[in-house]
Amino acid sequence: VFESSSAASKAAAKEIFRVITSKQSEHKHCVLGLATGSTPKALYAELVRMHKEEGLSFKNVISFNLDEYYPMEPDSIHSYHRFMNEVLFNHIDILPENVNIPDGLLSKEKISEYCNNYESKIEALGGIDLQILGIGGNGHIGFNESGSLQNSKTRLVALDHITRVAASGDFGGFDKTPRTAITIGVKKIMEAKQVLLMAWGEGKSNIIKRSVEETVSNQIPASFLQEHHNVTFIIDKAAASKLT
Ligand code: F6R
Repeated sequence: VFESSSAASKAAAKEIFRVITSKQSEHKHCVLGLATGSTPKALYAELVRMHKEEGLSFKNVISFNLDEYYPMEPDSIHSYHRFMNEVLFNHIDILPENVNIPDGLLSKEKISEYCNNYESKIEALGGIDLQILGIGGNGHIGFNESGSLQNSKTRLVALDHITRVAASGDFGGFDKTPRTAITIGVKKIMEAKQVLLMAWGEGKSNIIKRSVEETVSNQIPASFLQEHHNVTFIIDKAAASKLT
């Protein structure tokens, strides 16, 4: 628990720095699982600063983003492709061929094969070394909404009402907000060697409490993380305020 989200974001960036550079010293690639949304923005800004001022290189990094709205044009202002380019990838030395973000332009019949390949690619690289997560007000991780199973795979999902309401401000209204998205499944998140879940503000305090202190349940997918062997919730005081 940190005093502020900015101190917490810096701590998360330090841990990513440690993992990337320790892999570099072994001449190995580093597989990062990345999230979008408002939560990791300060983290990505700190990683950009570390790249520019402390020489942190991303040349050995292979990234996999958690999710993308479907359908979605990659250059739309709403797309997670564009978000990641603007907040991180355009400012660091990651190789473009090492960036993976679910494709929001696929035809429906190609989605399932695409999702299987997304997972196979992660497996062929030895799995995710470090997974960054935010958390939805309903406890979703990625877009694994309430009801997602612990062994769920990468797939097309219907977004919850509460998720669409949360996103509707960005889309200029609920009716214009996408109904579906492609998300990595819970299984790949649980297989990551290390997980950092971040959450800021009082608005997340209820779901943080339920995820950490209540019984594991598929109604709150983040609660599955209670069974992960190396997970850290990096939260600010406000998000921690309901913990007992
Ligand atoms: C985004 C993602 C989502 C968000 C969550 C919190 O890639 O997977 O699970 O992390 O909806 O969003 P923010 O950070 O905007 O509160």
